[in-house]
Amino acid sequence: MAKLKKSYFCTACGNESPKWVGKCPACGAWNTYTEEIVAAKSSPLTTNNFFSASASSGERNRPIPVHRVERSALQRIDLLNHEANRVLGGGLVPGSLVLLGGEPGIGKSTLALQIAVRMADTPILYVSGEESPEQIKMRADRIGVSNEQCLLLSETSLENIITQLTETAPELVVIDSIQTLYSERVESSPGSVSQVRECAAMLLKYAKETRVPVLMIGHITKEGSIAGPKILEHIVDVVLQFEGDSNNAYRILRSIKNRFGATNEIGVFEMLNDGLREVDNPSEILVSHYDEPLSGIAIGATIEGVRPFLLETQALVSTSAYGTPQRSATGVDYKRLNMLLAVLEKRLGFKLGTKDVFLNLAGGFRAADTGLDLAIIAAIISSGLDIALDPDICFAGEVGLSGEVRPASRTEQRVSEAARLGFRTVVVSGYARKALNHAPKGIEIIYVNRVDELARRVF
Ligand code: TYD
Ligand code: MG
Repeated sequence: MAKLKKSYFCTACGNESPKWVGKCPACGAWNTYTEEIVAAKSSPLTTNNFFSASASSGERNRPIPVHRVERSALQRIDLLNHEANRVLGGGLVPGSLVLLGGEPGIGKSTLALQIAVRMADTPILYVSGEESPEQIKMRADRIGVSNEQCLLLSETSLENIITQLTETAPELVVIDSIQTLYSERVESSPGSVSQVRECAAMLLKYAKETRVPVLMIGHITKEGSIAGPKILEHIVDVVLQFEGDSNNAYRILRSIKNRFGATNEIGVFEMLNDGLREVDNPSEILVSHYDEPLSGIAIGATIEGVRPFLLETQALVSTSAYGTPQRSATGVDYKRLNMLLAVLEKRLGFKLGTKDVFLNLAGGFRAADTGLDLAIIAAIISSGLDIALDPDICFAGEVGLSGEVRPASRTEQRVSEAARLGFRTVVVSGYARKALNHAPKGIEIIYVNRVDELARRVF
């Protein structure tokens, strides 16, 4: 028997090394190398030799002048799901390989199955390596089936899946999940770096050659112990991430990489008993309405991708019971919070050195938008002074280290969204005046240039 060839792979980035190393030279992660058997078996693929046949046939790809490439080839497939279409940039591109990543239990299978069973009259093959057809059927019944052409296959062998794909010729393929698949051509176990890479490469080839789009689910674990989507990110065309707090019903679908559209686009869903509801108007769920005004709450006007919406920021400033004050930020960058606190201390003389500060974005939402700075500062001042803000006021502006308020990107869209939702006042940077020449009627705009002005004019 031939000696097995072994190699070491970084489970974080997929880098290969002939020797075990403590620190990955490619991504810098520590203790991520695992041993895997890499020698491919000599026996070729048995399934009609789908790939080798197409490669050796007389028909070879030839270069085409760019103006002669047919436009129709870019026609997108409507997933009959507004939020998913939006994140993909207007639907699924034929022949694309899409990775849907997320933590276990977040709802990836539910989303993929929902798309599959609701796309009426489209032949779809839903392959699950995790659940039996009976289990999938139970879930499908919850969601409601309207596509009778959706076929279920419980299979983990890539070669068998390819055989079924060539026989059934679907128009969309769902793979749940890439970590459960194995190819006979690789010795190592399912979920290992070499298996995941091999299976994904094969599916990519299938997608490109048949122009059938493949939606592939991938798990991310907190420890990164399974070969995670990091390795796959380079292979696939689109990376979507499904995220949310499992204690909360709201889920965000985010595009991290998209060869056919904008990234940072988001889709918002709510997990209900009968599947995922598409949330057209995120502001409604992210801004709560209280019977009486509460201190520590400020509404920020934010933008994700091209979509403006309003978000509730909540702060609690209280006297620290212990020597070292606590700082906690949920949904926003911890370092950003510390910076804003330092600005408040230095520019407003707000004494926070002996105070605990907790900051939270409502609905389990995460945002990296610096245009929320002004709302965060307003929430902290409101809690520190214990004065509630007017519920009809919202904020959009970035705060710099000198305490200056800079315009948030696309301030005019944020203001329009606030006006649409019935807010009466919006506080923005004085430097955004020009952009707001055509501000919507019926909304008062307060311009502030520095954070101390904010404190004087709003409280
Ligand atoms: P699932 O799609 O299995 O998660 P993943 O594939 O990402 O691991 O779904 C996870 C949760 O969703 C599970 O706890 C049950 C819940 N759920 C609902 O609340 N409503 C539904 O209609 C369905 C199908 C699932
Ligand atoms: Mg699942």
